[in-house]
Amino acid sequence: MSQLTALRVDGLEVKFGAFTAVGGASFEAHPGEVHFLIGPNGAGKTTCVDAITGLVRGTGSVRLGEDEVLGKPVQKMARLGVGRTFQTASVFEQLSVLQNLDIAVGMHRSKWALFGTRRSLDGRIAEALEQTQLEHLMHQPAGILSHGQKQWLEIGMLLVQDARVLMLDEPVAGMSLEERNATGELLHRVKEDRAVVVVEHDMEFMRNFASRVTVLHQGQVLSAGSVAEVQADPKVQEVYLGTASMAEEDAEEAAALAGRTEEV
Ligand SMILES: Nc1ncnc2c1ncn2[C@@H]1O[C@H](COP(=O)(O)OP(=O)(O)O)[C@@H](O)[C@H]1O
Ligand SMILES: [Mg+2]
Repeated sequence: MSQLTALRVDGLEVKFGAFTAVGGASFEAHPGEVHFLIGPNGAGKTTCVDAITGLVRGTGSVRLGEDEVLGKPVQKMARLGVGRTFQTASVFEQLSVLQNLDIAVGMHRSKWALFGTRRSLDGRIAEALEQTQLEHLMHQPAGILSHGQKQWLEIGMLLVQDARVLMLDEPVAGMSLEERNATGELLHRVKEDRAVVVVEHDMEFMRNFASRVTVLHQGQVLSAGSVAEVQADPKVQEVYLGTASMAEEDAEEAAALAGRTEEV
């Protein structure tokens, strides 16, 4: 299998009982791109990621390179190189940054036995520390890291596992502006070797860092393209404005979206 692998989602459908959370969503994420999956609350973004990573059952097709992977259990998906983070970072607080990375490495030992290692173990950890800019904190317990640094450590844990697709669910939620920008830069550093999919609510972050955007609404793809294309799409503006009365957060997004279209 090639190191550079695209993720192709085709007609993905997820039902919870009679309710269709994702109703036939299709998108492609390619190495070298930071692909944003955006949409109002409840659009089905997290459910898409859950289905792709094997956490919930879906139908349709998810291909990793040439291989159909939809329906594979969550451990298997991780082994195949689809790494994912959750909104709440799950690092081992008592252990050092380095020990956290070591553990991440250990979890995927069997995968290496199968495919062989491209770089030495130490090399990979050093690279992850450098990419996430956590070198100076490597011997510190992860518990003392800021919220943003914990998210970066979690991304680092996926990097040492050689994840070929990184799926991040609202990575910048709760981060300072500085941390958001650092996260965006981190994603652009790591995208060269892998596809990066970012589920996001934050419009400013999307505008600054998306290579491509897929907009979900009520479980379906409403619009897709470059940042400029989706921002200029009246359907997208309508959805964000239409939901504005439902949540203050969405109202802010709608205002940001409407106000900045011409800047792009
Ligand atoms: N386990 C579940 N059981 C029933 N409904 C769910 C479940 N998970 C999510 N949903 C519903 O599916 C829809 C999409 O949710 P979600 O994917 O979390 O949206 P988003 O991440 O875009 O905010 C929402 O209406 C949500 O309430
Ligand atoms: Mg969500």
